[in-house]
Amino acid sequence: MEKRYFTYQQIHKSAQRIAEQVEASGFDPDVIVAIGTGGFIPARIMRTYLGKPILAVGVAYYDINDKPTESPRKVQWIEEAEKKLSDKKILLVDEVDDTRTTLEYCVRELMRHHPEEIAIAVLNNKDKPKKGTLPSEVKHYFVGETLGDTWIVYPWDAHDIDEHDQLASHT
Ligand code: G4P
Ligand code: MG
Repeated sequence: MEKRYFTYQQIHKSAQRIAEQVEASGFDPDVIVAIGTGGFIPARIMRTYLGKPILAVGVAYYDINDKPTESPRKVQWIEEAEKKLSDKKILLVDEVDDTRTTLEYCVRELMRHHPEEIAIAVLNNKDKPKKGTLPSEVKHYFVGETLGDTWIVYPWDAHDIDEHDQLASHT
């Protein structure tokens, strides 16, 4: 599969573009919810521009014995703070919308806390058939760059960041 490398510089600018889209849309989030771990760094950069607090959630596709599971499960979720989500506008952030399973799961779980609105922001959406569907309550979907069905290599996965940046400069 074709690979696409992104540098931290590109990620930062992508997150900035998303924040600008959010501001231009009129959607004014009260809180950012970052889906870990891929959503952590993008959410933090968006906070620089949007100035809103971040709550973190973690979902995984493996169980306690490291066995793969069919559907996502919570490994970390909003506890004390979740009461405060009712009537709030949430910006749900992840790095990539691939199958959409995780995003659907997180939107549905967050909706149980009766937020006023949930919008989604991802650095990259893959233009491909999706397994997950987003509820009609999701009115805003912000994306940095839409790609085909390629494998994206993010800088935080690099063991050698200089080599990673080299590879990014060739694509
Ligand atoms: P989605 O619902 O947001 O579409 O994500 P999906 O569950 O399909 O993705 C499963 C895992 O695969 C996620 O990681 C996601 O980040 C990762 N993934 C999907 N496509 C790519 C890609 O092109 N490049 C990279 N680097 N990762 C990809 P996860 O299990 O949630 O782990 P984490 O890395 O976020 O901690
Ligand atoms: Mg992820």
